[in-house]
Amino acid sequence: MSIVICKDSTELNARAADVITDLAQKAIAARGRFTIALAGGSTPEDTYALLAQEPRATRIDWQRIFVFMSDERCVPFDDKRSNFGEAWRNLIGKVPLPAANKLPIPTNAGTPDQIAALYSKMLAEFFGTEEGASPPVFDLILLGLGDDGHCASLFPGKPTLEETKRWVVSSPPGTLPPPVDRVTFTLPLINAARAVMFLVGGAKKAPAVQDVLEESPPVTKRPSAGVHPTNGTLTWLLDEDAASRLSPQTRSQ
Ligand code: 6PG
Repeated sequence: MSIVICKDSTELNARAADVITDLAQKAIAARGRFTIALAGGSTPEDTYALLAQEPRATRIDWQRIFVFMSDERCVPFDDKRSNFGEAWRNLIGKVPLPAANKLPIPTNAGTPDQIAALYSKMLAEFFGTEEGASPPVFDLILLGLGDDGHCASLFPGKPTLEETKRWVVSSPPGTLPPPVDRVTFTLPLINAARAVMFLVGGAKKAPAVQDVLEESPPVTKRPSAGVHPTNGTLTWLLDEDAASRLSPQTRSQ
């Protein structure tokens, strides 16, 4: 695990955009494509916007990028609460990504359980594997951190945290807004990734960051504590405000 602390949100977003660009170039060189699952929430918005601008936009071969979502609110994409809608406004709608490379969670596919089942099937088809087999390996899964320590839509105290087989599940509203049904990657899918990166900014997140990184809390209390990629890398990309409660030892990791 590596912890990278940026002086402010501007540096955080620029660093995140550079890490993503670099991972994309490396994945394409090595395997001919880059599969990324975007995080929802507001933190990554500026990172997504930077990826759609020069100098990064032309450094990325968008024909070989495949964009998924690591969780979604069960609302239409044009609803302001939609994570894919946010990614579309800041990035996906601004870059020459082929239609087939845009793989949002299909929130128009029925109930949250039906949506989750369909997305899981879509992942199996895309990655050429079988549901029930070991989870597909994303090149990068981006995650935000909720004030309560949730990630994706894996909320404290919920049965979704105990899922060991399914890759995508429905998730009833957590305690944090917006109070809508969600669909989320599970910990087994997240932990199968080649790389997982948390993107966390702001002083409000500092208590959860400190708890997760220094106190080894139970996953049921802080779901992000359950993110430990089996064979992949884990990066916590923080700004100084979010890192403000970390000890000097942790900061130097
Ligand atoms: C969601 C997100 C969620 C988010 C965190 C941080 O659908 O709400 O995926 O996990 O990443 O809650 O949200 P902010 O970046 O808005 O603080």
